[in-house]
Amino acid sequence: MQLLDGKAMALQIKEEIAGEVRQLTQQGHRAPHLAAVIVGEDGASMTYVANKEKSSKEVGFTSSVYRMSEKTTEAQLLETIEFLNNDPDIDGFIVQLPLPKHINEQKIINAISPEKDVDGFTPINIGRMVLGEECFVPATPMGICTLLKRYGIETVGKHCVVLGRSNIVGTPAANLLSRKGFDCTVTMCHSKTQNLKELCLQADILVVAIGKPEFVTADMVKEGAVLVDVGIHRVPDATKKNGYRVIGDVKHSEVDAKCSWTTPVPGGVGPLTIVSLLENTLKAYKRR
Ligand code: GUN
Repeated sequence: MQLLDGKAMALQIKEEIAGEVRQLTQQGHRAPHLAAVIVGEDGASMTYVANKEKSSKEVGFTSSVYRMSEKTTEAQLLETIEFLNNDPDIDGFIVQLPLPKHINEQKIINAISPEKDVDGFTPINIGRMVLGEECFVPATPMGICTLLKRYGIETVGKHCVVLGRSNIVGTPAANLLSRKGFDCTVTMCHSKTQNLKELCLQADILVVAIGKPEFVTADMVKEGAVLVDVGIHRVPDATKKNGYRVIGDVKHSEVDAKCSWTTPVPGGVGPLTIVSLLENTLKAYKRR
């Protein structure tokens, strides 16, 4: 079993981006600017946004975070988005999800200018992605693709089973991996899928984004499969200094031995997600 080491790969790609930003600023250009909007104080969201801010600064981007109260109204958030859409200093921005229940998430996403939608969540970018046109691809599936590509994993004609059909991961991942370039035969599974175990056992490449801790066990994985675990969950662990450890959607202690390649959790897909957001921001900057 070999590791798809997302942490090491993210470091390498960040160095590449930082080099490009250095060149641009040495030539007298301004640095790319990524902004993030966070509404409320959800712990996981605050961690994500802090990581995005840290990574942005590491590669030399300008980073700003708009922190808004849990009580923010939909109209106030729409106003902030309008401001960011029109601010010439900002190349791209994200609105951290989930949003508080009283705000219509899709309405907010729809208000983001497609040219600044570095998360690739707007209908225009999703439509362009499905048509194979130039677009911003959502960061997590883009990270999965980068990991498979840079490690030279054979994908052409392989059976790829994607567990999960979210708009952010499962659906775009299934689409991208079936397209020219990856050429997988893709099966997408979800909570209503029958014979889930039998389908997983057919997978040459198994992408797990189902959001359930250690859902995939050894009896569901074919010998020699490539395993990509997108899950990230905190579970209490008294032996750790911070009181918790991070686990994925796969029971790695029993599954990894069967795999040809596997992503660790943490340190697999996660670091590549942030790097993909940086890559999209650099692309937005260059377009402008
Ligand atoms: N919440 C969980 N993942 C993401 C992401 O990739 N982007 C945004 N905006 N919110 C998220």
